[in-house]
Amino acid sequence: MNAPLIAPSLLSADLSCLTESLSSVSGADYLHFDVMDGHFVPNLTFGPALIGAVKRASNLPVDAHLMVDDPDGTVDWYLDAGADIVSVHVEAARHLDRLVHHIKDRGAKAGVVLNPATPVSVLEDIVDAVDLVLLMSVNPGFGGQTFIENTYAKLGRLMRLLDEHGAHPIVEIDGGVNRGNAGKLAAAGATMLVAGSAVFGSEDPAAEVEALREAARTVEGA
Ligand code: DX5
Ligand code: ZN
Repeated sequence: MNAPLIAPSLLSADLSCLTESLSSVSGADYLHFDVMDGHFVPNLTFGPALIGAVKRASNLPVDAHLMVDDPDGTVDWYLDAGADIVSVHVEAARHLDRLVHHIKDRGAKAGVVLNPATPVSVLEDIVDAVDLVLLMSVNPGFGGQTFIENTYAKLGRLMRLLDEHGAHPIVEIDGGVNRGNAGKLAAAGATMLVAGSAVFGSEDPAAEVEALREAARTVEGA
C-alpha cells in the first residue's frame, strides 16, 4: 500500500502572497481548492478564475471541491479552468450519474463528496463510475474545525462497500486532518488527505507536508 496523496487546502493559505504559498507546498501531490458559493455552505471563497491562475502558476494538479448548489449548471467553469479532479456533493447534485460521466468525458477525474451525516449507502449505484470518493470529516464551510471521530467508522463502511463492488477509487478525507490522525486514516483506507490549517498554519508548510506523509506512512507500516 502506498502512502496517501497529500493535498494542502488553499483555504488556509495566505492569498496576499499566493505564489509564495504555492511554492511552499510544491512537494505536495495536489492543490485542494474549496469552492464555496454562500448557499450550499455559509461561506464564499474561490471561483474558476483563481483555479485558472493557479494552473498557470503551479505544476501541481488541482483538486476542486465544489461546495455549491446545482453543480450540474456550473461544473464546466471548473473544467474549463483546468481542474484535474472535480468533486461534487451528492447532497447538491441533481443528476449525479450524468454529472459524473460528464466530468469524466471532459477528461478530468470525477469525485463525489459526502457530508458527515450522509450515509455511504448513497454511493451504492454510483460507486462503480467514480474516480474518487471524498468523506467530509467536518461540516463543510470553514477551515480549522475539529475532526469528527465518527469518520473512522464511516471510512470502514466505505471500504466494505468498495470491496463488495471491487471498486478502487481514490479515498479522500477532508477536514481536521493533522499529524495525529493521518496514520490512522491511512491505515483505515484513506488514499488522499486534505490538510488546510495543519499545513498553512505551521511555520514551515513544506516540512508539514512531509510530516503528514511520514505520519501516514509510520502507522500504516506498524
Ligand atoms: C472545509 C473544506 C476543507 C478545509 C480543511 O469545508 O472542505 O478543505 O479547508 O481545512 P482544515 O484542514 O483546516 O480542516
Ligand atoms: Zn475541501
